Amino acid sequence: MTEAAIHTEPTTMTVPLKIWRYDAQTGEKELREYEVDAPEWACLLDVLDLIKDKVDGTLAYRKSCRMMICGSCGMRMDGRAVLACKERMKPIVDAGHVPVISAMGNLPIVKDLVVDMDPFWGKVRAVKPWLDPGYDEPTEKERIVSQQQMNVIHKESLCIMCGCCVSECNSMESDPDFLGPAALAKGFRFVGDPRERGQIPRLNKLNEEHGIWDCTRCYFCNERCPKGVDPRDAIAKLGAESIKEGIDHDMGAKHAKWFVTSAKTTGWLRETELVPKTQGVVSAIKEVKFALKLLRHGKVPPPVPPHVAENVREARALHELVREQDRHGALGIVQGERGLARLEQALSQDPEHAAASRIAPEESRQ
Ligand code: SF4
Ligand code: SF4
Ligand code: FES
Repeated sequence: MTEAAIHTEPTTMTVPLKIWRYDAQTGEKELREYEVDAPEWACLLDVLDLIKDKVDGTLAYRKSCRMMICGSCGMRMDGRAVLACKERMKPIVDAGHVPVISAMGNLPIVKDLVVDMDPFWGKVRAVKPWLDPGYDEPTEKERIVSQQQMNVIHKESLCIMCGCCVSECNSMESDPDFLGPAALAKGFRFVGDPRERGQIPRLNKLNEEHGIWDCTRCYFCNERCPKGVDPRDAIAKLGAESIKEGIDHDMGAKHAKWFVTSAKTTGWLRETELVPKTQGVVSAIKEVKFALKLLRHGKVPPPVPPHVAENVREARALHELVREQDRHGALGIVQGERGLARLEQALSQDPEHAAASRIAPEESRQ
């Protein structure tokens, strides 16, 4: 490389953006516009640093590692939670878009883009984020854990506690006491650890009110997690483990069990029987008027004769396979995840598939 090349200045771009400024002490809120010149490789965090350095030193935000490890720089860009040090600005500038930056959701704002993380840490502490191996003194020999066993909690171990999932959680928005995706993913990190000895008390605790069954399965946490932890999947694993251990007193667990029974018997969800089977006869009687209304409008099929899916044998065979191979609990979900990951990898390596996936949706529809 020539000396001239080494000293070449990086190409710059002009980055316009809007930031919601907020002061919890005065209650003042204002959307301010900024514009700075930044190198083309700049991420959102670099741009915020430039604004703070050159334009407005009063801007408040958190940061530390600048490399997607510490989890400090969670904030919202255009209403979705991101890590500021992960978001490249070049494509946004090229698209002519002016992003709106704001503080994360579901947590109280202290100032500008800084949120109070106390409620977040309180919930993480509530799931006892440490291992209980069932002894106080270490054993004489080291305890070997197989890679296969550790694979079960691999994704959950990647969490950097940034709070992006919590920011987007629908359940937390309506119930601030809901434990939430980050704490529950941490909960599975220990329930699924082969060295842990307190699985049952942990599961009982996580099955209480504001626990796993209060998740609405909106999947926003999976979508927004910058580290691929997939907290919703961790919650599903906790549910599967609970049912495997006979912890099924919550209505959510009863619903899940009925879904399985429905799928294996008729191959589809028998909603008309859902209420009596899960909430009891008294609740079912109270809901008769509503059920008749649904029936009249064709929203549910008549309960008799029960509708049996054409390919019900496949559903039954799948259920039997899971039973024979003892893939109950979290393990079945983990195996499914790994199978899907292998499939995705194989597809991405297939040149034909790769070419097809590069075709714009409009072209692919022609
Ligand atoms: S899937 Fe559940 S935990 Fe995740 S964001 Fe939605 S409600 Fe919250
Ligand atoms: S699960 Fe993902 S989004 Fe949630 S705190 Fe952990 S790393 Fe952040
Ligand atoms: S600054 Fe550490 S994750 Fe962004």
